[in-house]
Amino acid sequence: MSPCYLKASQDSKLHEVCFIWHCLKRETNHAVAMKVAVFGASGMVGSAFCQAAVHRGFVTDGFSHRHPIKVKGMASVSQVDLRDLNVLERPLLDGWPQVIVNAAAISEPDRVKEDAAISRVINIDLPHRLAEISNHVGARFLHLSTDLVFDGSAPPYRSTDRPNPLSLYGKQKLEAEEAILNCCPENVVVLRITIVNGNSPSGRRSVHEKLLRAIAKGRRPTLFSDEFRQPCSCANVADALVELCQRPNLNGLFHWGGVERLSRFELGRSILQRFALPEKFVESGSRRAFPGEDERPADLAFNLDPLEGKLNTRPSTLAEQLEEMSIPDDLYDWFKEHTADTSCFLRKFSIN
Ligand SMILES: NC(=O)c1ccc[n+]([C@@H]2O[C@H](COP(=O)([O-])OP(=O)(O)OC[C@H]3O[C@@H](n4cnc5c(N)ncnc54)[C@H](OP(=O)(O)O)[C@@H]3O)[C@@H](O)[C@H]2O)c1
Repeated sequence: MSPCYLKASQDSKLHEVCFIWHCLKRETNHAVAMKVAVFGASGMVGSAFCQAAVHRGFVTDGFSHRHPIKVKGMASVSQVDLRDLNVLERPLLDGWPQVIVNAAAISEPDRVKEDAAISRVINIDLPHRLAEISNHVGARFLHLSTDLVFDGSAPPYRSTDRPNPLSLYGKQKLEAEEAILNCCPENVVVLRITIVNGNSPSGRRSVHEKLLRAIAKGRRPTLFSDEFRQPCSCANVADALVELCQRPNLNGLFHWGGVERLSRFELGRSILQRFALPEKFVESGSRRAFPGEDERPADLAFNLDPLEGKLNTRPSTLAEQLEEMSIPDDLYDWFKEHTADTSCFLRKFSIN
């Protein structure tokens, strides 16, 4: 018989029973509510992860840099400039999270080339330091990497295949992977993901947002019909990460992506069809005709074994990814003017 039940038999001590019950309940809640620190929480994948983590009931502390974190229900949000790695220790040692998720990065290859030194700090030194701190506080560490660690000449790629990055961005991401896995091979996941579809907090980051913005400005983008990717969605990656937070037996380097491999042109055309926009808005071209081809892997189809067989989360299909896509608010009037069917996208209003 539990001490709590014994006390329940004495009426005069009923208030004490209630007190103990509340304490036990709080302790139980505390035990199931995982505490997670998220870096890059204002980014496309980071914010999707925060949303999924809050939804799952995790106590979620988010860190961003220039942009505020827009997810509701976060335990805390902070803006920090991680070019100074000294700012990392205090919040992590004070907060003592069970899981640290790193979605912070300079994630656009052109930006990496423009500022290689700062990119090096954010893309290599930061994850390395986070891995060390995770090890120190006994936290699980989940880090995101990219399909661009491969050269695209021998798809589909397994996580055991030999990387050969063509771009500086790919080289930095590979160096980070090695630093993390050398530093702490246990309680760590390095998750290589493919190009990410979905809605970014800025409305300017994802494939469909960039494409529609370019068209709205009067351009006719050329999309390569001979460059292949296997897109995933940020919401689906977030679900996989949430599951990985709770699967401490899954450690190491894994691949995650969507179901279908398709060319950039096929993806662009599917996006236009999804929003009932004219296909003539884009044109098909060959990567060979464009400068910088030597830094663009031709085919980054991914083999998702063994993770696909181990997670309950399923990789998302292109149809599911297209369904998730929204028209950014500031493009809505342009969309209404050009679409053949306004009902193919219903604008969502948030009620605060
Ligand atoms: N998006 C893709 O298609 C794709 C594909 C494969 C792999 N990945 C990988 O997935 C991860 C997430 O990518 P993403 O597309 O979500 O990136 P993103 O949207 O560009 O977001 C990057 C995040 O990093 C933060 N950050 C950058 N510099 C910082 C600094 N100095 N201090 C603190 N935070 C800083 C940004 O904060 P602020 O915005 O607040 O400045 C933002 O929250 C990255 O590791 C990327 O390599 C992405």
